[in-house]
Amino acid sequence: MIHQLATEPQTISRCEELLARAKQSIAGGDSSTMRVLPYHLPLVAVRGKGSRVWDADDQQYIDLNMAFGPLIFGHCPPAVIRAVQKQISNFGSQLGFPTEITTRVAEKLKRLFPSIELLRFANSGTEALASTARLARVFTGREKIVQFEGHYHGWSEALFNRYHAPLEQLNGRDYGPALPGTIGMMHGGPQDSLVVRWNNLDALARCLETNQGQVAAVIMEPIMGNAGVIAPEPGYLEQVRMLVHDHGALLVFDEVITGLRVAPGGAQELYGVEPDITVVSKSMGGGYPVAAFGASREIMEPIVNGSLFHGGVYSGNAVVMAAAEAVLDQILARGDDIYAHMRDVSDRLSDGFGEILTRAGISHVMQHVGPMLSLFLMRDGVQELREYRDVREHCAFDRYITLQHAMQRAGVYFHPNQFEPMFLSAAHGPEDIDAVLERFEQVVACTDL
Ligand SMILES: Cc1ncc(COP(=O)(O)O)c(C=O)c1O
Repeated sequence: MIHQLATEPQTISRCEELLARAKQSIAGGDSSTMRVLPYHLPLVAVRGKGSRVWDADDQQYIDLNMAFGPLIFGHCPPAVIRAVQKQISNFGSQLGFPTEITTRVAEKLKRLFPSIELLRFANSGTEALASTARLARVFTGREKIVQFEGHYHGWSEALFNRYHAPLEQLNGRDYGPALPGTIGMMHGGPQDSLVVRWNNLDALARCLETNQGQVAAVIMEPIMGNAGVIAPEPGYLEQVRMLVHDHGALLVFDEVITGLRVAPGGAQELYGVEPDITVVSKSMGGGYPVAAFGASREIMEPIVNGSLFHGGVYSGNAVVMAAAEAVLDQILARGDDIYAHMRDVSDRLSDGFGEILTRAGISHVMQHVGPMLSLFLMRDGVQELREYRDVREHCAFDRYITLQHAMQRAGVYFHPNQFEPMFLSAAHGPEDIDAVLERFEQVVACTDL
C-alpha cells in the first residue's frame, strides 16, 4: 500500500509546542546543536523500538539515523535492556570502585581490536579523543597534531576545528593551521593542529616534511563519516601508516563511528591496517554513553604509571559497561550473521535509492561502507567524491534538505544535513528497506529536486 504523504500541518503540532517550551529552559531547545538545526522539521521523539521511532504527535518513522550511529541493534534492544536492568537492580549503576564487569568489557573489546593491549574507558568520543591527543604528545614529546579536512573528532579544545569550512577558507597549499571550530576557543583555535586534505598522500607527505620532528600524531576517521561516507582509496591507509611512522609520529584511528559498525573490529579489521592508538565509541554502547581509547602497553605507560592523568567519575561505570557487554557478547557470538545482514540491507537500500534517482534523471552519487551510507544529490555530473572538498563543491545541500523534509513527512527519518550519513542496524529488515524505497519513489516523483 502506498504510504499517504502527510500534508503541510495547518495547526501547531505537539512537536512544535514541545520545542517552543524546551527553548524556554534549554539553550536552543536541545543539548546538541546537531539535533535542532534551523532547517530541521520539528520532531520531538517519544519512543523507539527496533527500526522505528515515534514522535510526540504519534507519527511513526522508519529511522535511518539510529541516534547518529550508536543503535547498532536498533532502539530498545532486548539483550541490552536485560543486561542493564539486571545490573541496576541487582548490583548498582555506579559503584565507585573497580568492578569485574569493566575488566570483562575491556577483555572482550580487545578480542575485537587486537591492536589494543591496554585501554581506558571514557564517557564520550570527545573525551576519549582529547585524552588521546594528550597521550600522543606525552609519548612522543612533540606538540603538533595533524587532522584532515572534513573529519570530526569532537568539540574539545584539543581538536575541534572548522571541519566544514567553506571552500574559500581552506588552505591553498593542501594543508595548513586548523581553523577554530567555534568562537571562544583558547588561543583562538585547537592548539598546534594542522589540517590536511584526506585521501591525498602527497599533501600529508609535504605537511610532515615541513613539520619534521614536530608531529606527535596523525588522527583520522579511517572511513570519513562526517562529510558523508567516503572510503579510503585502496592502499591509502597502509601508506599513511608507513609515512607517519617514518616521521616518528603516532597514527590514531578515530573509530567512534566505524568501530563495531563496518566490521566487529572496525575499519582496521576491514582494511587490515593497525593504528597505534584506537578510539571506539558509538556502536559499542548500543545506546549508552561510552567510549574507549587504547594502544600498546608501551604507549599507555604514562597513564599506567600515573604521570599522565586520566579520570572521570562516570568513566567505565557499571550501567554502561552492562550495556557494552551485551553488545559485545552478541557480536562475539554471532558477528558473521549480524554484519552480513547489515551489509545486505545496506546494499539493498543503496541500490534502491540509486535506481530510483537514475530513473528520475537526478544526478546523484551513492557511497556506502556496510551499514553507513550516503546519498549525495549533485549540482553537476561529478561521479566520484574522494574528499571533503568534493562534497562541498559538487553537492546540492539545499535540495537534500528538500528531499529530507519530504521523506520525513512520508514517515522516514534521516538527518537533513548531507554531511551526516544514514545508519542502518541489525533491527532493519528487508521489509523496512522496501517501505523506505516505496516512499522514496513517491517523494522523488512529486518533489521538485
Ligand atoms: C568520528 C567522530 N569522532 C568523535 C565524535 C565525538 O563523539 P561524542 O559526540 O560522543 O563526543 C564523533 C561524534 O559524532 C564522531 O563522529
